[in-house]
Amino acid sequence: MIRYTTSLEHIDNSQLDGFFVGWPNPPSITKHKELLEKSSYVWLAIDQDTEQVIGFITAISDDVLSAYIPFLEVLPSYQKQGIGTELVKHMLESLQHLYMIDLLCDEEVTTFYKRFKMFECKAMCFRNYNRQSGQ
Ligand SMILES: CC(C)(COP(=O)(O)OP(=O)(O)OC[C@H]1O[C@@H](n2cnc3c(N)ncnc32)[C@H](O)[C@@H]1OP(=O)(O)O)[C@@H](O)C(=O)NCCC(=O)NCCS
Repeated sequence: MIRYTTSLEHIDNSQLDGFFVGWPNPPSITKHKELLEKSSYVWLAIDQDTEQVIGFITAISDDVLSAYIPFLEVLPSYQKQGIGTELVKHMLESLQHLYMIDLLCDEEVTTFYKRFKMFECKAMCFRNYNRQSGQ
């Protein structure tokens, strides 16, 4: 069974292993925990058998009009079981008081997000690659 929670209480570093798949210079688990704690909103998916966090989504927000969703990830062995969908649904519910909810994604994931009435628009971004790990 998968449990969905906004609480970071009792989540320790050993439960956060395996994320940032494919990142050349991934953040450490400590940095991952820190970004979860500093986000305006967070939802975690936890495998109740192992108590491992197997998916997460974050949002940062002014809580007036806008929010940005920088991270959504489900561990590879748990993908395609509806967990990403549940995380997005929970987050959109948490953000339903806001006007703008934006995110950036690769072309291949646009079909996934369109299921939530999201639409494509042009975006600009800047990346400071030597800061990718957050160190
Ligand atoms: C994108 C991601 C979070 C989806 O999580 P998930 O738990 O596998 O998603 P779901 O099981 O809820 O999938 C729902 C549907 O979207 C489809 N889908 C999921 N990931 C997809 C992808 N990367 N590309 C295209 N379709 C995808 C699934 O096939 C499924 O369709 P179906 O119901 O018709 O079978 C997951 O693939 C992931 O962590 N990817 C790596 C990180 C990433 O790309 N994050 C998004 C950053 S913006």
